[in-house]
Amino acid sequence: MSSRKKLIAGNWKMNKTSADAVALVQEIVAEVGRVTETEIVVCPPFTALECVGKKLEGSTVKLGAQNMHPEASGAYTGEISAGMLRSIFATHVILGHSERRTYFHETDQFINQKVLVALKNQLKPILCVGETLAERESGSTLKVVQTQVEACLEGVSKELATSVVIAYEPVWAIGTGKVATTAQAQEVHAFIRSLLIKLFGDAVAQKIRILYGGSMKPANAPELLAQKDIDGGLIGGAALETRSFVDLVNAAVAAG
Ligand code: 13P
Repeated sequence: MSSRKKLIAGNWKMNKTSADAVALVQEIVAEVGRVTETEIVVCPPFTALECVGKKLEGSTVKLGAQNMHPEASGAYTGEISAGMLRSIFATHVILGHSERRTYFHETDQFINQKVLVALKNQLKPILCVGETLAERESGSTLKVVQTQVEACLEGVSKELATSVVIAYEPVWAIGTGKVATTAQAQEVHAFIRSLLIKLFGDAVAQKIRILYGGSMKPANAPELLAQKDIDGGLIGGAALETRSFVDLVNAAVAAG
């Protein structure tokens, strides 16, 4: 049992039309829309944010975006601001996902700007960090994660730090079916906790949720969620089906 409330977030990535998204969220709300023991966030693509948000009204499930731009407005074709997300009642935003880092060349410095702007706008960042397979095999996992955590959280105050959620997503485990062992995951989570203690002090660090992401499924979730520093999951593939997502929520509730 941890003092931190577990969090299960679904990252729908570039999946679901608005109609499909509404159908999925209605089923999710029907099954777990009153759960309070675990925090639940769904992160549909931009086109479905508003209609999914409407279906979440009156439920405990929260709305998250998958990305945002740090500027408030202006000539940034294809981008979305924190204010726009707030205006449709999003509460969370995934930042620095490895797919954004890899395919869209996002740097730690750029992600850091977004984290600061999200917090200023009362959006909770779900900050993603994690090593590639080559980095793990060369023994630099902890160094890579340290650089990402420290650079992306630069300038975050102690007061706002408790609103940050970290997601440890080993890149080699994303969408591959290769899940990190519980020992591998817990080692990195404990290391991230130690970094947070250095940055913000023990009391604040103990309140920050650290999620695991990478091929998390109902079958492997109970063992992962039982680890001391694993406070939930950021779920890709298994968040696209009602049954598996609901089972993951139930696993988090059971893990306490
Ligand atoms: P999968 O659960 O599909 O491996 O994706 C994890 C992820 O990238 C969540 O952000």
